[in-house]
Amino acid sequence: MKRRIFLTLAAAAVTSMVAGVPAAQAADPVKIGFLVKQPEEPWFQDEWKFAEAAAKKDGFTLVKIGAQSGEKVMSAIDNLHAQQAQGFIICTPDVKLGPGIVAKAKADGLKMMTVDDRLVDGSGKPIDSVPHMGISAYNIGQQVGKGLIDEIKKRGWDMKDVGAIDVTYEQLPTAHDRTQGATDILVASGFPKANIIAAPQAKTDTENAFNAANIAITKNPQFKHWVAYGLNDEAVLGAVRAAEGRGFKADNMIGIGIGGSDSALNEFKKPNPTGFYGTVIISPKRHGEETSELMYAWITQGKEPPKLTLTTGMLATRDNVGKVREEMGLAAK
Ligand code: GLA
Repeated sequence: MKRRIFLTLAAAAVTSMVAGVPAAQAADPVKIGFLVKQPEEPWFQDEWKFAEAAAKKDGFTLVKIGAQSGEKVMSAIDNLHAQQAQGFIICTPDVKLGPGIVAKAKADGLKMMTVDDRLVDGSGKPIDSVPHMGISAYNIGQQVGKGLIDEIKKRGWDMKDVGAIDVTYEQLPTAHDRTQGATDILVASGFPKANIIAAPQAKTDTENAFNAANIAITKNPQFKHWVAYGLNDEAVLGAVRAAEGRGFKADNMIGIGIGGSDSALNEFKKPNPTGFYGTVIISPKRHGEETSELMYAWITQGKEPPKLTLTTGMLATRDNVGKVREEMGLAAK
């Protein structure tokens, strides 16, 4: 009897080995972690929503984890290992945690891919051995800059009277590249460099952007109009709220964000326009669903994801946001 069971098991193992998949793996249910640095931000909720769609379609379990600090990341990875997950996707709270995260994933035998924010090594260089999907940050920043210039011209503002709030977060490379792209286009289009006011935010949320922008506006009473840009919609919303508080409403403020999730959409739904003029919509579908599918294929077929995928965006304003979302394959909201 014992021998018979053994033979059956051996035969099963051989069959699945022939199909190119180790027996144990084929039988194990697939479990994938999705760690994000700011679970309260609509962008990350959208990413999770699309990751759930992939889980449903492919039939794996998705473990969503908010990991706002290095300690949380490390314990989450151990926890995933204990739950017998095979891999995870992460937007890290700090890109400098790179080598530590890579070592931890390796020690726990988990496959790993990064999304949004790319890990860096001790010298600040991207860790290119880890597959990554991010946005084409500099180009998207340039789209923001172009949108601002076009609208300044449309309104017939004299550029010498316009201040630009550049909400910066220099420790994050993708944030640096985005705001640099916008700055470069402004300057190349004849916008006075001296009118660009850096407003460094301490954290990447609306409150911190508000505080940074408030200082920039208070210190520069010479400007009649303002424009604002930053790494995401939350940064620009902070600047827009600060400007409102100082009397710069939709007529005298042009803010263009990056994202296109609820923070921006809610602004466009308000009955009257606000200083939040537009957003470059990027794709939480690609960043959430496609990354999950790539991880699933890696686990089940041994197919490693491309090392680097950079996604694009499209500028939307309250006038065409529905159409742009549709074109980007995002459902109506
Ligand atoms: C960073 C930002 C997010 C979002 C993503 C998009 O992580 O903090 O708000 O813009 O990039 O990749």
